[in-house]
Amino acid sequence: MLFEPIIINGMQLKNRVVRSATYEAMATEDGKITDKIIKFYTRLAKGGVGLIITGHAYIQKNGIADSFQLGAYSDEHVMGLKKLTTAIHEQNTMVALQISHAGRQTVPEAIGGQTPMGPSSIEADSVFNVSPREMTVEEILKSIDAFVKAAERSKKAGFDAVQLHAAHGYLMAQFLSSHTNRRSDEWGGTPEKRMRFIIETYKKVRQAVGKIYPVLIKLSVDEGIENGITLSEAINISQTLSQLGIDAIEISGGTIADTVFMVCRGDIPIDILTSEEDLSEAEKLSEQLYSIKDNVMFKEAYWLQHAEKIKAVIKDTPLILVGGMKYPQTMERVLESKKADLISLSRALIREPNLPNEMEKGRKNPVKCSFCNRCLFETGSGSLRCYNLG
Ligand SMILES: Cc1cc2nc3c(=O)[nH]c(=O)nc-3n(C[C@H](O)[C@H](O)[C@H](O)COP(=O)(O)O)c2cc1C
Ligand code: SF4
Repeated sequence: MLFEPIIINGMQLKNRVVRSATYEAMATEDGKITDKIIKFYTRLAKGGVGLIITGHAYIQKNGIADSFQLGAYSDEHVMGLKKLTTAIHEQNTMVALQISHAGRQTVPEAIGGQTPMGPSSIEADSVFNVSPREMTVEEILKSIDAFVKAAERSKKAGFDAVQLHAAHGYLMAQFLSSHTNRRSDEWGGTPEKRMRFIIETYKKVRQAVGKIYPVLIKLSVDEGIENGITLSEAINISQTLSQLGIDAIEISGGTIADTVFMVCRGDIPIDILTSEEDLSEAEKLSEQLYSIKDNVMFKEAYWLQHAEKIKAVIKDTPLILVGGMKYPQTMERVLESKKADLISLSRALIREPNLPNEMEKGRKNPVKCSFCNRCLFETGSGSLRCYNLG
């Protein structure tokens, strides 16, 4: 089934293999497209994947998460993005733009010295080390409008779809999660009010791009922290989004600030994570990391049980499953079981961009990626590539 075509609201995919959004660190300092990024995606498209979802593109300057991240916050980005879609289409591959706002998951140095904003002012986490300030209602409306404008730019630049990033603890997920959303106004306080930011954004994006343009979402279905998003909340919002006409839901989980190894189950590269600390800090940190190692160990298709529950309520809305796909046979079996409609890969395609072509020819061997997670932590200081080709 992996190589059976599928149509998602007019977008014709040649197969069901999706490249899950993966930050490239190849844009200019202000988020514009470079030749390097075009070359990178041309190679990936040649590898046979049906749909490429770009790395997250920030929709407002204060929503940047990473250096050399793609931007979609200004009309000035459209021309470069158009070059990118043209290059990918020349390889007979479809492409979606993932749009995102970091919310609290950034640092003042990245946003002109300001304090990062979020739904509520909460205690600092140990990754970003900063307590965010609470957004005003005016700022909430401005961010929603920025998502809408970025979606319009996506369409203008020739992307075949747009994906809202509501996973991994970024701004949309921050509104959904009662860990980060402690408001008591119209934007928080009850499950319905915490859903409001995502629902309003989706409705306004839909209005702007029209009925016949695929709008996808990547949604966290479990954050693994106290008061974080739970499966039952995710089921609730998935059902609502499906009823409102979302075109596909990709499920994932974890947050960058608190539970990054839920996003990317696998090894913890303790040497890299402790390399910049002084000796006593490094010792403390490595002790902490060793203590969680067993809980985040690699598991194949680690969101599959969640997928089954979500699929049961979204029915005909396609579900895209990401996370730990290792054996081609497993990918086939997941599709045959009807728990998911498309299979999404990030790390496996960093290691082997040509994997889809090989699987189409009948490859049975597991992916070569060892899920060592070096790329997860090295990409910010280099560019996206496999750091463990041995
Ligand atoms: C280097 C790197 C960058 C990533 N960047 C993004 C991103 O921009 N947006 C996103 O939604 N997920 C991002 N992810 C998460 C992946 O899309 C995916 O959800 C996760 O890696 C699990 O899939 P896998 O087991 O196939 O790698 C990134 C992962 C890695 C390793
Ligand atoms: S560095 Fe390479 S082997 Fe390690 S997780 Fe990333 S892609 Fe896989």
